[in-house]
Amino acid sequence: MMYSPPAAAPQASRAARERESRASATLDQPEPAIEKQPPLIQVEGLSKSYRTARGELVLFRDLNLAVEAGEMVAIVGQSGAGKSTLLHILGALDAPSAGTVYCASTNVASLSPRQAAAFRNREIGYVWQFHYLLPEFTAEENVAMPLVARGMNPSEARKIAANWLREVDLEDRGAHRPGELSGGEQQRVALARALVCSPRLLLADEPTGDLDGTTAARVFELIERLHADHGLTSILVTHNMELAQRCTRILRLANGRLTQLTDAAQPAT
Ligand SMILES: Nc1ncnc2c1ncn2[C@@H]1O[C@H](COP(=O)(O)OP(=O)(O)OP(=O)(O)O)[C@@H](O)[C@H]1O
Ligand SMILES: [Mg+2]
Repeated sequence: MMYSPPAAAPQASRAARERESRASATLDQPEPAIEKQPPLIQVEGLSKSYRTARGELVLFRDLNLAVEAGEMVAIVGQSGAGKSTLLHILGALDAPSAGTVYCASTNVASLSPRQAAAFRNREIGYVWQFHYLLPEFTAEENVAMPLVARGMNPSEARKIAANWLREVDLEDRGAHRPGELSGGEQQRVALARALVCSPRLLLADEPTGDLDGTTAARVFELIERLHADHGLTSILVTHNMELAQRCTRILRLANGRLTQLTDAAQPAT
């Protein structure tokens, strides 16, 4: 396509030129800065499907989601809806079939396996329903492990790990192996390990799902405290509607769609 050049502007008088230059000088003055951070997570057109012997299994199609820094978002939905899969994709543990995920300004789907591992180590703390602590190592060694994995010297890593154990009220359990801890304590150690590298994002997949009601409430309170104290952005998958209601908002994944629950009293499944 061709563009014709704009017609030459008629010569303005000197007074008019001066008026214009004064006006533009005023306009050029810097405006007060409005700090608008981009969303920490920006998902566009996200789809995930599996090819199975019975044909294509579509988990979700064309999901869009923006999560602002500092939010604590709950994701609810029936078993098999794709909640864990969505969390894995957000955290660079799984690849989408289509769409983009920007997480902390990184296009997650474009990362090589090695880059994805470095990205996870730097930006993301994961907590799962089961603690996945290594049984042969002490609580302190387990917490120190992500720091050692990024090249920190082990004795320094253990000092930082000890501080994190204090954050989760377990400073006196550092020498215990996972088998010598209660379920709630194991999950608190897992939280310390998730946060030891100071990530911006906490992804938690049913973090209280394996705990009794009282212990679940305590672990959830700890997540709330850590979220606030460390300026985290958190996404939690949960079947527990009571806990979900304490989040900034609740999203439901159902029939391949993500909807925001306006009536938080609706049952999760
Ligand atoms: N590799 C795969 N091939 C085919 N189907 C798969 C594969 N991995 C997972 N699925 C299917 O994807 C669906 C979603 O699994 P996902 O673990 O994300 O569900 P969920 O919502 O987390 O469920 P739950 O609440 O039980 O943890 C399940 O029905 C599962 O069988
Ligand atoms: Mg799951």
